[in-house]
Amino acid sequence: MDDVILEMRGISKTFSGVYALRDAQLTIRRGEVHALIGENGAGKSTLMKIILGVHAPDAGEMTFKGKAFRPQKPMDALQAGISMIHQEISLADNMTVAENIWIGREPASHGFVNYKALREDAAKLLAELRIIIDPSEKVGHLSVAQMQMVEIARAISYNADLIIMDEPTSALTEEEVGMLFSIIRTLRDKGVSVIMITHKLDELFEISDAVTVLRDGSYVSAHPISEIDEKKLISLMVGRELSELFPKQEAQIGETVLRVQGLTRKGLFEDVSFAVHRGEILGVAGLMGAGRSEIMTALFGGMPVDGGEIYIDGERVAIRNPRDAIRHGLAMVTEDRKLTGLSLCRSCKENISVTNLKRTSPSAFLNKKKEMEEVREMIHALSIRLADPEQAVRSLSGGNQQKIVLARWLLTAPKVLILDEPTRGIDVGAKSEIHRLISELACKGMAVIMISSELPEVLGMSDRIMVVHGGRVRGVLSRAEATQENVMALATNTVKEGA
Ligand SMILES: Nc1ncnc2c1ncn2[C@@H]1O[C@H](COP(=O)(O)OP(=O)(O)OP(=O)(O)O)[C@@H](O)[C@H]1O
Ligand SMILES: [Mg+2]
Repeated sequence: MDDVILEMRGISKTFSGVYALRDAQLTIRRGEVHALIGENGAGKSTLMKIILGVHAPDAGEMTFKGKAFRPQKPMDALQAGISMIHQEISLADNMTVAENIWIGREPASHGFVNYKALREDAAKLLAELRIIIDPSEKVGHLSVAQMQMVEIARAISYNADLIIMDEPTSALTEEEVGMLFSIIRTLRDKGVSVIMITHKLDELFEISDAVTVLRDGSYVSAHPISEIDEKKLISLMVGRELSELFPKQEAQIGETVLRVQGLTRKGLFEDVSFAVHRGEILGVAGLMGAGRSEIMTALFGGMPVDGGEIYIDGERVAIRNPRDAIRHGLAMVTEDRKLTGLSLCRSCKENISVTNLKRTSPSAFLNKKKEMEEVREMIHALSIRLADPEQAVRSLSGGNQQKIVLARWLLTAPKVLILDEPTRGIDVGAKSEIHRLISELACKGMAVIMISSELPEVLGMSDRIMVVHGGRVRGVLSRAEATQENVMALATNTVKEGA
């Protein structure tokens, strides 16, 4: 058909003998938003890197704009009219926003970079996209969401005919997602094609025209969006029906483990008080920017506070840094797992067990056998997709890297486990396994604090829900009281008097 812009057939790719893609195919039409979905490790990013010329396929054919296409490097793909927003942010921290956008094609006069033009062009582009970021700001000073917007601006600046977006919304607020979607619609109207990888099915139904499903590196099927529903998509992705997405077990709720009194950091949050009990899952809901992550980071000793008291098992403790927090039995999985926690070039095994060395080896010697057993159990429990526990974390898919961090902290067996967006970037199948695991830990008596921006997740998993808005606790709802509506009312601070 002549409205096809990209065609891939019979694509296979192995990494050290293990298949990442096996006979995959993809057809993209001009001016369509095409979603690409599949479980963590299904091969989505790898397929995109083949379009971009980062990886060469072992087998298969590709055509772009009707001609055979064999990019050897990303520059080839760019010149042909393809740009990509990567899953991992790929900006240079010590350079400015403008420099990052025009990297490799800076406007020059007399052989020197024209920094004024560079800044002005960037300002113009950002203004067109309605992105409010100072082009002369160093990228290292931006928030993760802002970095994501700069990546988006850069990808668009190439005036490509095909833009690939690998989980572009994972770090964006709802408002920013709305902005991105209106940018995507404008591009589509101009005839640009967009491939969008996402684990958020509601977004997929909102923005895409068609969808292709991959499973275990193979093509499953492709559909116009009007001919498929969420339930069908999930079963195509995971190869089975998923009945219970939030399998919460009823746990025995015991005595108070952690009590926080009047925790304050001026300008960020104020007078925050709450408690968690043994066996309890305390959900923390709120809009992006409400202060949820900041409160938990401060509790964990990651930032200084202006006031407040912390009690563990009834005793007041001082937590000045994460080391203190860990010593008192706290553990935290942070929101931006890519920036914290992982040693990318070390093995999966080492990354999972790094904080556990003390526990598994009471003597100075490492108990190798026990370590390996635990690591294997975790890999199985979280269904981490890897060829060998000794392989470098860098070689795992994005979602599987996140599971590695989760595995490490789950193994420390803390009294209180703080999880910040534990299932962001995780596919629907693994998500329910992670939920089951969290629920089991609670049943064993662990106290869990779970920040989540996904209301169904908070409502499904929590025994109580604490809602934060503007750095203050606006209310705590019991499982029975909590509904989508009253959580949102507290989160947006629009609770009616007497309600
Ligand atoms: N450079 C590499 N070396 C070794 N294995 C790799 C490499 N890149 C990817 N893989 C493997 O290929 C498989 C597919 O990974 P890919 O990143 O394409 O998955 P994905 O569908 O994008 O998953 P996610 O949703 O988690 O991002 C995984 O099993 C991964 O471990
Ligand atoms: Mg990926």
